[in-house]
Amino acid sequence: MSSPVITIDGPSGAGKGTLSQMLARHLGWQFLDSGAIYRLCGLACLKANIAFDDHVSVIACAQSLDIDFIVSDDGLQTLLDGEEVTAQLRTEEGGAAASQVASIPAVREALLQRQRAFAKSPGLVADGRDMGTVVFCDAPLKFYLTASAEERAARRYKQLQQTGESVNLAAILADIQSRDERDMSRKVAPLKPADDAIEVESTDLSIDAVFNIMLENVHAKGLV
Ligand code: DC
Repeated sequence: MSSPVITIDGPSGAGKGTLSQMLARHLGWQFLDSGAIYRLCGLACLKANIAFDDHVSVIACAQSLDIDFIVSDDGLQTLLDGEEVTAQLRTEEGGAAASQVASIPAVREALLQRQRAFAKSPGLVADGRDMGTVVFCDAPLKFYLTASAEERAARRYKQLQQTGESVNLAAILADIQSRDERDMSRKVAPLKPADDAIEVESTDLSIDAVFNIMLENVHAKGLV
């Protein structure tokens, strides 16, 4: 029998990253940050000076991507061509590059198997935009996490301030809105809840409150 998968999809800044890692740690399951794979692809294009409208080169880059995730005492390290790029991935530039490459259907196709390979025993928590609708459509438990764009921008602002990046709230909100628009309107695997996803609106909920809702559903499904 294949390992169970819990999918957590939603727009950027909805708390998916924090919550999926909390859930994976709590359950002792594997964790997939699918956004990191798109970010790595975007970064690889930036490093190779590939323009995002040069689809042939972007697709070739996705197909030959040399990436690795290493669990260390400092957390999860991400390597591109053997070089540590964890911090670069999390910048606004990294997110915008990811969103550009992610809108190309053949890029998504090229990255599909890499994502499915994360489904290993005893189970997987998968964080992304199309985990429940495309990559793991048979998953027994799916969440769709949302929050208002303003709340997501405020959360992102705080997060970036802590990392020391120079930030502007209005610019972050505009970036979130344009990324939502691009992620939701693309032809292949647009951001939307799976028909069988449990939707959680977290604008007025704490991380712990959302985590408890998720855990209740994990138990209700008999996954642990
Ligand atoms: O979750 P994130 O912010 O790291 O994702 C970066 C971008 O990657 C996001 O704008 C959309 C894209 N993405 C995607 O299209 N499909 C996924 N499963 C994950 C991310």
